Amino acid sequence: MTSSDGLRNLTVRTGAATKKVSPTLFGLFLEDINFACDGGLNANLVNNYSFDGVYLVNGVIPYLPLELVPEEHRERLANTPPELLTTPANTPAGRLVDHLRHWTIQDGRIEASEEKPIAPGAGFARVESAGSARLENLGYPGNRPGMPFATGRPLLFSTFVRADDFIGAVEVRLLDLERRVVAAGVLPSTGSGWQEAELRLVPTATGLGSLQLVLNGSGRLDLDEVKLIPTDHWGADNPRWGQGRLRRDLVETMAALAPRFLRFPGGCIVEGCGDGSHYDWKKTVGRLETRRQEYNLWGQARADGDYSQSNQVGFYEYFLLCEDLGMEPVPVVWAGISCQTRMDKHLSMESPEFATVVQDAVDLIDWATGDPATSPWAALRAEAGHPDPFPLRYLGIGNENFGPEYLEHFARIKEAVDQLHPGLTTIVTGGVVPSGERVDPAWTDWGHDAQILVDEHFYNSPAWFLNSTDRYDGYPRGGAKVFLGEYAAHLSYDLGDRNPAVPESLLAPEPNTWLSALAEAAFLTGVERNSDIVGFCCYAPLLNLVENGQWPHNLIDFSPTEVVRTTNYLVQELFATRIGERIVPVDGDLPTTMFASASIGKGMLHIKLVNTGSSALDVALQIDRALDCTAEAVLLHGPLDAINRLAFDSTPRISIQPERSDYAVRGGEVTLHLEATSVLALSVHVEDVG
Ligand code: AHR
Repeated sequence: MTSSDGLRNLTVRTGAATKKVSPTLFGLFLEDINFACDGGLNANLVNNYSFDGVYLVNGVIPYLPLELVPEEHRERLANTPPELLTTPANTPAGRLVDHLRHWTIQDGRIEASEEKPIAPGAGFARVESAGSARLENLGYPGNRPGMPFATGRPLLFSTFVRADDFIGAVEVRLLDLERRVVAAGVLPSTGSGWQEAELRLVPTATGLGSLQLVLNGSGRLDLDEVKLIPTDHWGADNPRWGQGRLRRDLVETMAALAPRFLRFPGGCIVEGCGDGSHYDWKKTVGRLETRRQEYNLWGQARADGDYSQSNQVGFYEYFLLCEDLGMEPVPVVWAGISCQTRMDKHLSMESPEFATVVQDAVDLIDWATGDPATSPWAALRAEAGHPDPFPLRYLGIGNENFGPEYLEHFARIKEAVDQLHPGLTTIVTGGVVPSGERVDPAWTDWGHDAQILVDEHFYNSPAWFLNSTDRYDGYPRGGAKVFLGEYAAHLSYDLGDRNPAVPESLLAPEPNTWLSALAEAAFLTGVERNSDIVGFCCYAPLLNLVENGQWPHNLIDFSPTEVVRTTNYLVQELFATRIGERIVPVDGDLPTTMFASASIGKGMLHIKLVNTGSSALDVALQIDRALDCTAEAVLLHGPLDAINRLAFDSTPRISIQPERSDYAVRGGEVTLHLEATSVLALSVHVEDVG
């Protein structure tokens, strides 16, 4: 314990708790960036499993204008033809269907075919073997063996196969990095035509590796929908989870944040690049074999444009996950406007294409909540495995769109939604908000409407977060509320817009430092204090396959085998899991480097104290209605540059983790010790006054 810089007195007025904490305050935002879905949450380890991968021809093209790209990143662009540097990578010419990417063959031959596929429009692989052929897949990210396996942990291999013209056997193997066989089995023979065949593999070692199919025999073998899934995936043995499967450790790490809602699928992914690449939920809800892949616009930040969305984690899986974790679904639909920082394209309000956009929004509600007996969309939901309706109370329309055209598009879609499904709360977006000028028009148009949430996004420096803890104190009450849909404290110049006014000392030099998390904690005291007007908040992005991300700061880092809770995650966890139902005022002599919030519910008071100063502090709390008790505290602290690190192929290095301790509360008083640069949460038993 370090010596303190004096005693501060704070009063916690539980009796003055009148305003309600939003019951949905803390949630999550999931977007398939940084291999969050394919390569992450999607438990299928096979890359380009359906031989329909779609990529970008032109990776490395930044989505920012070149002059805003930091010098060091410009180097990456050296070999890019100059004409492409001014052309967004997302023009239709950049879209590349590559059926066989991530599959290699030795001895035999492989080609893509579309002749009599298992589902209309789907490609598949035709393998020719004259005695022997070996087909291999490295998994994700695709440029190194990335399939995890562990001794005795079974995996289920499955594939659609058509073996009418093949005589022989197919052996399925898992290879380790030294190319030793760590698990193997022979695929059961199938009847004629397309058949699904499966096989259980039980590894005899632990590590990373690849999948190999060995054709011992001659002739032509057709393959599609190849899957390799650990049998302990999330939802195992639950018939609802009959389509896409999820990686268990990632779901459990999300669940530990006690999320009350999940925003999905984006993010820029919703908006697309004006070439039909916007997110089309209708392509993500049917049986897996009917879902087609689409390029992921975050492939722009990969040297080879190599990022296909397989849609195995689609809207069907999203709604199931919400159901499993008790989260409100907050789906976001396309507003008919592409990502305006990439390519500003609008569908005209009177065009048939925009009429389809409006219909798609309405159909989503039908799909989620309708009766399978009367609605074809609801029937599709039932066929996928969920006949009962899903709850749906919120709908986001557009992401980071702005300007008068967007507000018109929003109004038209909202009108259609309201007509058919009155009572749904819609979310209008105001773009990214360094200054407020984009969010303000959304508030002007919709601020009066209590059925509206206004989506605000901040990716600003830690200094901005520290200076903005009072942001919501003056927001008008009684109308629309805030949906804080994306935020994180980090170097804004990572994203191309460094503000020279921000001193170096308050810029987080590396991603996910304790400085960034501390600044977020200070900001969250302001969010909690104003949670009568801030209805929802979620950090962004959520998941990151380390060494393969497209965004520098993320909440959860993972490798094929490990999951790391960043310092920012620990702050989220502390705030989200210790929250009451009413906001409690905290008064007293708070130094400018200290921030506080409190809430009460079910006989417990939860207090958070954030000390951003470089000296420790002792804080004497006076809590009215406190019971004499032992109160549990959780402390997070460390040097500002501390990071919980993970590399792709090694074990985590954890610098910050929660420290638990007990404090005696007597006669409504307790004195706490706050280390320098720390966050402390204390939960105290109080009289339950309802
Ligand atoms: O969270 C990453 C990106 O940041 C989102 O896709 C977009 O909405 C924002 O600009």
